[in-house]
Amino acid sequence: MLKISPSVLACDFGALRNEILSMEAAGADMIHLDVMDGHFVPNISFGHGIIAGVRPGCSIPFDVHLMISQPLRYIDAFAEAGADSITFHLESESCVEETIEKIRGHGKGVGLSLRPGTRVKELFPYLPLVDMVLIMTVEPGFGGQRFMQDQMPKVAAVAKACRELGLSMDIQVDGGIDETTAPIAVKWGANVLVAGSALFRRPDYGQAVAGLRRAAEGGVS
Ligand code: DX5
Ligand code: ZN
Repeated sequence: MLKISPSVLACDFGALRNEILSMEAAGADMIHLDVMDGHFVPNISFGHGIIAGVRPGCSIPFDVHLMISQPLRYIDAFAEAGADSITFHLESESCVEETIEKIRGHGKGVGLSLRPGTRVKELFPYLPLVDMVLIMTVEPGFGGQRFMQDQMPKVAAVAKACRELGLSMDIQVDGGIDETTAPIAVKWGANVLVAGSALFRRPDYGQAVAGLRRAAEGGVS
């Protein structure tokens, strides 16, 4: 199932809860919250306290993308803050199995992400343990970057491996997704589209979400 996940990185942080509620009303399937520690990536965004603060009153699923060096240390905090699913990076310093187990222990969805420079086969041993794979289509850290089409073979490789293993997997792409690039990603096998600038920088969120969905569905082969 195709899912549209607006990334709040491009929203008005001063009105964070209202921005999330507006995307909920606009028909988004989930909301993407980018957590950055200034260490794993050069940028700093926000943490679990902010997420806990905006969570009440929102019913859209909260998908937290941790771009931090020590995810294991903070899983409890993000789970308690109201995350419905937590994605962390294979390249982080935490033990991957332990981090997956910790997220599962909270009954939350588990996502595992790859930076553009990491080979996709490093992900394969963990496929049976996760619900979602996030293939980064930009170098993580900043919104508004250009979509890296050379990451698409990784999407296809994950889709193929999951088919062979009989796993149903959400395959997410994040970075530079808009009405032009979404159909490309979907054609290669992605079904969860994260978009920051392409949605929050538009005056009408309803039109923006519907437009992205329509464009992406054009890519369903
Ligand atoms: C980048 C973040 C993305 C970012 C995408 O490191 O993980 O979620 O917000 O922004 P756009 O859609 O503007 O490329
Ligand atoms: Zn992200």
